[in-house]
Amino acid sequence: MSEMSYSEAIQKASASITRFPLIPVRGVPLMNYIANNWDSIWAFRPDPSDLLVATYPKAGTTWTQEIIDLLLHNGDAEICKRAPTPVRSPFLEICSPPPIPSGLDLLKKMDPPRVIKTHLPFQLVPPGFWENKCKAIYVARNAKDNLVSYYHFDNMNLTQPEPGPSWEGGYHIQSHNELSWGSWYDHVKGYWVEREKRNILYLFYEDMKENPRREIERIMRYMDLSVSDEVIDRIVELTSFKNMKENPMANYSCVPAPVFDQSISPFMRKGEVGDWTNHFTPEQSKMFDEDYEKQMKDVNIPFRTLI
Ligand code: A3P
Repeated sequence: MSEMSYSEAIQKASASITRFPLIPVRGVPLMNYIANNWDSIWAFRPDPSDLLVATYPKAGTTWTQEIIDLLLHNGDAEICKRAPTPVRSPFLEICSPPPIPSGLDLLKKMDPPRVIKTHLPFQLVPPGFWENKCKAIYVARNAKDNLVSYYHFDNMNLTQPEPGPSWEGGYHIQSHNELSWGSWYDHVKGYWVEREKRNILYLFYEDMKENPRREIERIMRYMDLSVSDEVIDRIVELTSFKNMKENPMANYSCVPAPVFDQSISPFMRKGEVGDWTNHFTPEQSKMFDEDYEKQMKDVNIPFRTLI
């Protein structure tokens, strides 16, 4: 499908676009279109060569998808502009009003090996991925920046629940179990606990910001690829925040209003570590840290909120 037809499909569906209600699937709130189509998502059978990219929303999914596509195409920027991100690397569970193609619709039209995005928490990933021993890359981002990014995203993504009138209202801090795709805590812990058994490459957004070359090389080795140093340099450059923000095939300009209203907040918003310091009040931060300690006491995941 071309960029035009993907964007056009969204435009055609505009009368049916609304902030969709969430329906719990095994206790995890999911957009009603996803919940209503749950049986076919759960039954999805990937090919053993397919690669899963799993994240909590706003943890660096798009960045990682772009790195992977460039690695698979030896750093060829033109080939990686063949289609926008959600067409090159479909979003497994997404379902929207017709004629917008669902993730499963797009996957049906592609030959493996495919790079498949998901925001599903570990327990909701279709079991076929593990039965077929698919590779999976998980990207985690520190909770505070992740929730700030999610708040701005919920403002501009007009299919997501209303985020409340302001960040100060604290909805994203207090109601983390009620957010679309569930709790950040369950998400990052679920994949962490399973990472060795399932051979999941567990990455951190902060490490990618600190040393993108090192993390791109880790992804390359995990994928059993070997590209030259020069190509790695090119991929570092092509996947910088600035370049991806300007790349129409990576900056989600393919998803027009009425779904993404980038005049409210751009998809490529800031791309930084520590923006939470511009949002959390000292009281919010203290309250959050206390709760964080309780929620995370059973795991030791090395998150960094500043680099
Ligand atoms: P911010 O809102 O903090 O700017 P996802 O792709 O999972 O939806 O994540 C989106 C977040 O990743 C946004 O964070 C976005 O700006 C950031 N991002 C996207 N591409 C990036 C890049 N190349 N480098 C750094 N951050 C990037």
